[in-house]
Amino acid sequence: MKVLILPDEQAAVDRAADIVARTVRDAPDAVLGLATGGTMLPLYETLAQRHAAGDVSFARTVSFNLDEYIGLPPEHPCSYHSYMREAFFDRVDIDPSRTHLPRGDAPDPQAAARDYEAAIERAGGIDLQLLGIGRNGHIGFNEPTASLGSRTRIKTLTDSTRQANRRYFDSFDETPRYAITMGVATILASRACLLLATGAAKADAVARMVEGPLSAACPASALQLHAKATVVLDREAAGALELVGYYETVHPEGRDTVFD
Ligand code: PGA
Repeated sequence: MKVLILPDEQAAVDRAADIVARTVRDAPDAVLGLATGGTMLPLYETLAQRHAAGDVSFARTVSFNLDEYIGLPPEHPCSYHSYMREAFFDRVDIDPSRTHLPRGDAPDPQAAARDYEAAIERAGGIDLQLLGIGRNGHIGFNEPTASLGSRTRIKTLTDSTRQANRRYFDSFDETPRYAITMGVATILASRACLLLATGAAKADAVARMVEGPLSAACPASALQLHAKATVVLDREAAGALELVGYYETVHPEGRDTVFD
């Protein structure tokens, strides 16, 4: 796992944006796995600004989002469809017909989940999967004890995840209980992963992911199995790591290698 530690949130976001932009410049028809959540908002903002400045185009990019709440139609203001349109799709030149999210309002969510997994395969798999991390160590909506061999399916959200998401809804009761999410094995099948975590609230989950045992109790720890997983952190999110000195020696100032 490549652990890049940056001095503050914007520096971490810029570093993550560099990696996304480089992927798309190297392969304009790259398949991106996209994530939602508060952490990703400044990343999409930065990518939209770079697009406006003419630095990066997503015209040929294909995208698959990690997850969507069951029960919310795409037009619902709290759906991840809406989030993606507002935060990113409407602000760059991505072709809407090349963007994909699971349908939260599918009449048969289990069939929709299987179809989603098949669509990722038909697209040739994911080149770069963006990820956030939950305070409970989830990636996508793969909550603690999610099978490390799981593929896209329905997951029941934990109360802690619903509490974290409650701020977007009118009440805890209205906060969705279920989601369609890529599985841990779907994520591990991507050719590269880029996890961005910022802020002290993520420090414990980050330490369990990077330095804890490989365990379904912390689904993000499955990234230890991935041959090309990059974790971009600000100093606060790196606060509970024991081997900070080592990561900073290997990747000074968050660079790829000491030779860059
Ligand atoms: P957050 O969510 O960026 O809103 O903290 C991350 C996640 O739960 O994966």
